[in-house]
Amino acid sequence: GKVGVLFGGRSAERDVSIMSGTGVLAALRSKGIDAHPFDTGQRGITELAAEEFDRVFIALHGRFGEDGTLQGALEQLGIPYTGSGVMACAIAMDKIYTKMIWLMHGLPTPRYAALGADTDLAQAVAQLGLPLIVKPPHEGSSMGITKVRAAAEFKAAYDVAAGFDEVVLAEEFVTGRELTVAVLGRGANARALPIVEIVAPDGNYDYQNKYFTDDTKYVCPAALDEATSAEVARLAVEAYRAVDCEGWGRVDVLLRASDNKPFLIEVNTSPGMTGHSLVPMAARALGISYEDLCVEIVRSARL
Ligand code: DAL
Ligand code: MG
Repeated sequence: GKVGVLFGGRSAERDVSIMSGTGVLAALRSKGIDAHPFDTGQRGITELAAEEFDRVFIALHGRFGEDGTLQGALEQLGIPYTGSGVMACAIAMDKIYTKMIWLMHGLPTPRYAALGADTDLAQAVAQLGLPLIVKPPHEGSSMGITKVRAAAEFKAAYDVAAGFDEVVLAEEFVTGRELTVAVLGRGANARALPIVEIVAPDGNYDYQNKYFTDDTKYVCPAALDEATSAEVARLAVEAYRAVDCEGWGRVDVLLRASDNKPFLIEVNTSPGMTGHSLVPMAARALGISYEDLCVEIVRSARL
């Protein structure tokens, strides 16, 4: 059938999505799939409907692509799509709601505070300690994130994040190793791919070091002892299931240096598929090529 590769879009991660979608489109075509590009940032839902795609691969990141709104439109149009459904996407797009769900399931995630314009920042510092991480809850690719080392830096960090979101997330800083776990499937069949460890320059895995420099090192499978590796994979799958994710996703985890305890950071329902991205890296460690991974994901598309 005719496959649409949806990418671009109009979130702050538009450029990342163009890199993801370009890769996915070429991969599907190389496998003989009748794949067509569709930029949701340039063309609307009416035009999407007119394309009469049999299914779509969502290679969009962030708002209006990864957050459930597009998924809702595809449900209305009756077009099967890759990845999670409306509710899981909406929850996963909000890092605060994701943490609330995880906490309800007893899953470990760093302590946090939700900040509004009238929040007493000094009180948040007293609660979470320093350093702390300030983020806009609905962004990806490290947009608007600041590590606050001294209380005097907090207001400026809040203002940056508040430029993206009305409510801002402040999180306890977990010193340790940065891991990510790709998960495929759904429900009882959800399974983790080999864990990736990210070793960024000065521990700073920011937008630049995610996509543009070659200074970030990746280790896959991560060099962890067997028990830790099994625990991280188990938690990632539980975290994915708790949010009701399906198809594919990627759970970001920090492994605290002092005691090797894993903390869940977020789940991405439409992870990057760029040349620097992590899900393709994890698949490759199992001998699954980028092309085969794209085919497996598009096959899992459903309503
Ligand atoms: N938000 C980026 C695309 C990722 O999670 O890979
Ligand atoms: Mg993310």
